Formats: sequence, structure tokens, C-alpha cells
Amino acid sequence: MKHLISLYDLNVEQFEQIFNLAEKLKRQVKEGVQHHMLKGKTLGMIFTKSSTRTRVSFEVGMYQLGGNSLFLSSNDIQLGRGESIYDTAQVLSRYIDGIMIRTFKHSDVEDLAKYGNIPVINGLTDLMHPCQILADLFTVYEHKGTLKGLKMAYVGDGNNVANSLLHGCAKVGMDIAVAAPKGFECDEGIIQEAKDDAKISGSEVILTDDPEKAVHNADVIYTDTWVSMGQESEKEQRVKIFMPYQVNSELFSKAKEDAVFLHCLPAYRGYEVTEEIIDGPQSVIFDEAENRLHVQKAVMALLMGQ
Ligand code: CP
Ligand code: NVA
Repeated sequence: MKHLISLYDLNVEQFEQIFNLAEKLKRQVKEGVQHHMLKGKTLGMIFTKSSTRTRVSFEVGMYQLGGNSLFLSSNDIQLGRGESIYDTAQVLSRYIDGIMIRTFKHSDVEDLAKYGNIPVINGLTDLMHPCQILADLFTVYEHKGTLKGLKMAYVGDGNNVANSLLHGCAKVGMDIAVAAPKGFECDEGIIQEAKDDAKISGSEVILTDDPEKAVHNADVIYTDTWVSMGQESEKEQRVKIFMPYQVNSELFSKAKEDAVFLHCLPAYRGYEVTEEIIDGPQSVIFDEAENRLHVQKAVMALLMGQ
């Protein structure tokens, strides 16, 4: 593993390796045991989009690993004024030990990895959100004790989160059903990759526009905002289209009785999910958010450590 750009690049053993280390690091934090696996190392964090969880969890994660982090907002660095990805990658590679980037174009992340010679971590693009889904699957594992054979249902926009969820579930052998309205389905190339991996892991990929079909018998129900970063001007139109995809008590009752609810956050109560679900007893959203920290620390330690 040289970078973390797409979950499709990882094999199932690497998922296990990340989860095992995340479990250990999480325990060590709780027990107050130091684990300076990245002492003296620096992570550069490039952001061209907003963030609460990603920024804070990576920054705190580097600190806990004994390293340092730099917040590089595109408003402040020359990349935002048109300096090339090539030059940025070359220059940063001379100063720091790894880059985490959150941006719009997925190919910019791939180029950064191609032109630099340090590990690159995808902190979300318009196409994927791999760190999120690693934390999500780790959270499901904590609550259910297994991943293989479970059913994940994602209801809503076929966006970056849904794309990476397809990749991740198919890799670890979880059935995945995505219910999205016509015209808002997941990326075609990613659907194909997930289907290929599902054949290997023995899981199923179900694509539908019917939320009830997706959540039927599900162990996990997942949704995300209907208006991703960069789509703000489409809000009114999207809310109309997506309203039948709201995760509410009625829809939730079609899943297994002990199903858990996930949301990558930020959430918009009353839109993609109702209060009674997101703030109810089956919601594990804050465990999920916390696990960003532990899982990303494992990823950084594996990519940037000795
Ligand atoms: N889930 C997630 O990536 O949150 P932020 O946008 O706050 O980083
Ligand atoms: N799909 C959302 C995820 C935010 C973490 C977005 O891209 O804005």
C-alpha cells in the first residue's frame, strides 16, 4: 500500500490490517498508552472544500502518533492561484512525509500521487470518500462482530460516499444495496468494479430506485446529504426528487430489528433522515465519527511509518 486513493486498490488483507491496527490504537488512546509511530513526521493537509471531521481527526491523529500536521487551505497556498499539481507534488515531497487532500476533481489526487514521491491519502473527492468508508466498516464490525454476510443498505444520492461504500462492501464480503433515484445513481465504472469484487468475496450488489427493496432485511442503513459540497445551487430541485428517499421510522422498520444507522455527517435532519432515526437508539453516528480518528491513524502509520 503506497497511497490511499480508492478502496478498490486495497485487498481484503489490507482492510484487516488497517482494522487490527485501528483497534489497537483505539485501545491505547483509551488506556493512555503512547504510540509515537510517526515521531518527527509531517502530514500536509490540502483542503479545497470545507471539513470538520476530516480536518480535526487527521490533525489530532498526527499529534497522537507523535508527528506534526500542516493545514494547507487552497485559499492560502499557490495551488489555489493556479500553480500546477506537478510542481506542488514535487515541492511538497521535499518538505513533508505525506499528503492528505480533500478536493473536487478525483484526477487531481491521482496526479498528486503520480508526480510526488510521498504517500497521498484521499480525504474526499467528488467521486470517492475512502477514509469515511474504512471508519464506517470498522464501526459496523465493532457493533456486529463481523462484516461478511451482513447486508448494508444505502438510501439516497449515488455520490462519493455511496461509491466508496460499494467498493468497500464488495471487498469485505458484505451485501450492498443502493437505492437512488434515476439520474442520481452511483458511478458506472465503480459499480462494475464492485460487481467484480463481489464475485470474489461472495457478496451481492443490488442497485435499485426502490428504498424499501434496498432496506429489506438490512443490518445497516446508511444515508448522506442530498446536496454535496459544490451542488448548493441544486438544493431546491434535489430536495423534491429525494424526499421519497428519506430514512424515517417507516422505512427503518423494513430492516432487521437490530439494524444500526450510519451517516457520514454532516447531517440535515428532516431531509435525508428524521430526528427519531438519527437521534434514536439504533443510531451509531458518533461512534462512526470517532472511528475516523482511529482508522486514519492506522492508515497513516501503515503508509508513513517505518
Ligand atoms: N464525514 C466527513 O468527511 O466530515 P467532514 O466533511 O466534516 O470532514
Ligand atoms: N457527500 C458529501 C459528504 C460530506 C462528508 C459531500 O461530498 O459533500
